Amino acid sequence: MQVKSILTADQFTRNDLDMILKNTARIENLLKKHKQLKILNEYILATMFFEPSTRTRLSFESAMHRLGGNVITAVGMQFSSLAKGETLYDTLKVLESYADICAIRHPKEGASTVAAKSISIPVINAGDGAGEHPTQAILDLYTISVHKDITQKKIKVGFVGDIKYGRTIHSLIKLLSNYNATFVFISPPEIGLPDKYKDTLKDLRIDFQETSDIQALADCDVGYITRIQEERFLDHATYEQFKDLYIINKNFLKSCRQDIIIMHPLPRLNEVSTDIDQMPQAVYFKQAEYGLYSRMTLLLYVTGQLDKLDAFT
Ligand code: CP
Repeated sequence: MQVKSILTADQFTRNDLDMILKNTARIENLLKKHKQLKILNEYILATMFFEPSTRTRLSFESAMHRLGGNVITAVGMQFSSLAKGETLYDTLKVLESYADICAIRHPKEGASTVAAKSISIPVINAGDGAGEHPTQAILDLYTISVHKDITQKKIKVGFVGDIKYGRTIHSLIKLLSNYNATFVFISPPEIGLPDKYKDTLKDLRIDFQETSDIQALADCDVGYITRIQEERFLDHATYEQFKDLYIINKNFLKSCRQDIIIMHPLPRLNEVSTDIDQMPQAVYFKQAEYGLYSRMTLLLYVTGQLDKLDAFT
């Protein structure tokens, strides 16, 4: 099997992304006719999740089942032998003889890169602490591409909330940097975009603005709202200060462009009010659904099996 890991959004070129978006749309259509696309029958995916997850783990597992493959899972450090003192390296060395692909979520930034260096099967970064979440960024990009013509038009994307710890944002700005996009980062300065990402945007000469004023979202094409991530704060008082700072509700949306789309990687707390759930601008549940199609594409990509989609019509 050709080994291709997914560790960071940096690794994707514009051509890769266009190909991934095209195949994701193809899979979305194929699933309207087929319950399963039996391509990965002989493969086993291991989902190793050492931080909580609903969407990422279950959509990866569903994606593998829809491709005819099998899944084994280890959830939570306390239920694996890591709790008995085993190193992650030893755990992974054992795993490589049990599975063909490893999707890993770990609280430490860079953990998936270390994992990929340790084992010979493809590793997929399913979230590494406050670092990156590249497969979420792929489904986010797909969501934006469904609603906005990103190949032809310039888009303005407003990121709101916890931009410091928001790994989905870190990965998505890297992917969107391959398109004609400008960014507005809306957060208190204490949880703003880390310097390393700002430096990259400056090097790429991509326009961005930083503000704490939520009204900066009004003229954006996309509003990408995030939860303030309580689990990453060392100081609980700071979390309490920021947790309900920005709330997107029906009344607020009246001040925005009417064709804005409101995205959220989920889970949400209070930052997106349920009173907008039924509005056309609210696309976050479709976004989570697109995670299934995107991750099917990515499982075929890492196993070098994307061309097998040609057998389905
Ligand atoms: N968006 C996301 O990563 O959700 P989960 O934490 O539920 O996987």
